[in-house]
Amino acid sequence: MRPRWLPVHTLAALTGPRGTSSPSSTGPGTPSQASPYHLFSDADEVTSFRASLLSWYDRAKRDLPWRRRAAGELDPDRRAYSVWVSEIMLQQTQVATVTGYYTRWMQKWPALQDLAGASLEEVNQLWAGLGYYSRGRRLQEGARKVMEELGGHIPRTADMLQKLLPGVGRYTAGAIASIAFGQVTGVVDGNVTRVLCRVRAIGADPGSPLVTQHLWSLAQQLVDPARPGDFNQAAMELGATVCTPRGPLCPKCPVRGFCQAQKRVEKEQAVASRRLLGSPEQGQTLDVEECAPGRTGSCPLCPPPSEPWHQDLGVANFPRQPARKAPREQRAVVCVLQQLGSETGRFLLVQRPSSGLLAGLWEFPSVPAEGTESVQRQALVKALRTWVSSPLPLRSLRYLGEVVHIFSHIRQTYVVYGLVLEEQPQGLPLSGARWVSRAEFQAAAVPTAMKKVLQLFEGRPSGLGKASKGSQDPATSGPGLGRRRRQLTLSAFLKPTSAP
Ligand code: ADE
Repeated sequence: MRPRWLPVHTLAALTGPRGTSSPSSTGPGTPSQASPYHLFSDADEVTSFRASLLSWYDRAKRDLPWRRRAAGELDPDRRAYSVWVSEIMLQQTQVATVTGYYTRWMQKWPALQDLAGASLEEVNQLWAGLGYYSRGRRLQEGARKVMEELGGHIPRTADMLQKLLPGVGRYTAGAIASIAFGQVTGVVDGNVTRVLCRVRAIGADPGSPLVTQHLWSLAQQLVDPARPGDFNQAAMELGATVCTPRGPLCPKCPVRGFCQAQKRVEKEQAVASRRLLGSPEQGQTLDVEECAPGRTGSCPLCPPPSEPWHQDLGVANFPRQPARKAPREQRAVVCVLQQLGSETGRFLLVQRPSSGLLAGLWEFPSVPAEGTESVQRQALVKALRTWVSSPLPLRSLRYLGEVVHIFSHIRQTYVVYGLVLEEQPQGLPLSGARWVSRAEFQAAAVPTAMKKVLQLFEGRPSGLGKASKGSQDPATSGPGLGRRRRQLTLSAFLKPTSAP
């Protein structure tokens, strides 16, 4: 008879695939002692889970460009490259947004050697709007590395992919290895985390090392040895389309019968109905399906006793939502400097430093918003003078409003000014600055936040994500500055403007 409690890795070995992953890709050597409630302890159950998930995937999978491309590509390096690009783009970005970028990327750089020959400027340009720009840069660095140091061949295993390619972490390495090369290695991303936490009622913090290790161990145990890439994509697909964060579609779920969260929901509903009908409470007998240590608050995979069950959430009680850290507040003062002449005018852009946030991208001149408003204006004016050598009609500098943009962990507010030059400034802009037409601006490697800033300048409501505060301000909405060039009096220019 099997003991009631087994180390996770022992169970995986008993029931899992003939895994080819090395221990380093399945987690550190210390196995967690988990209650069977949080495990798949039965080989038949694992087989049946795989079959249910895969047959659903075969019927319901979305037709996505990277899937079609990988399926039709016979050359393993080209196939791996096509998966690599998709997986990097899909980190932190929705499928619907990625599809267009992916198609444009593969048209421009269909193979690794094409990307290796591209410039960072071209990469940033194509990436503009996807966010997290270092992803594109690393992809291109990786392509160069493969061409220059690895003989043009992408590493074939998850361990080597993770070790050798910049920007490729444990998840991405596993995804490329399983989808492109058929390595039997499980993966855990946000979608898989949600699916596994629900299926095995894991209510502890999914970001904790112990839960992370347990999830990777489960993924490794479950992955189908015959179709590892499809299995991994099926688990992600289930999380993305059925087992969604809010409003999951449980009646459509192919693995509903394996779901401990679902069983818990049913049990809670039965308890609530009994209470409603005034039936006496059942004794605290332990259900076979439950976690005994979870009841005493000693199971590290169960929710802490302080976490109540929310009836209205149903299975979405899992996974536990860790408290989000408030984003850091940052403010900058930015100036849209427009030079009239051509139909839409030209705009001054300056390049950001080659490292750090939005490295190498182009933006309107800006300075950190420090000190009083008048200090900020002076700092902005000083910065403008470093970029443009001819005299600037600074009395025409107009405050336009504010634009807010959320970068992953930063809430960035831009205090936006506009300045229109009737005359073409003498001399060329300094290196690291350039004048661009409206069309060039749209095509350039410009972050989304700057597109919102230009919309405010032009008096158009921002359709780009979060609305800019300034665009709702009557003082700044309406026709663009370029079309209503009202001069500010000197006193108005010097007068501090109130926040919108
Ligand atoms: N998210 C990450 N990788 C994915 C894939 N291959 N298919 C769908 N969604 C994904």
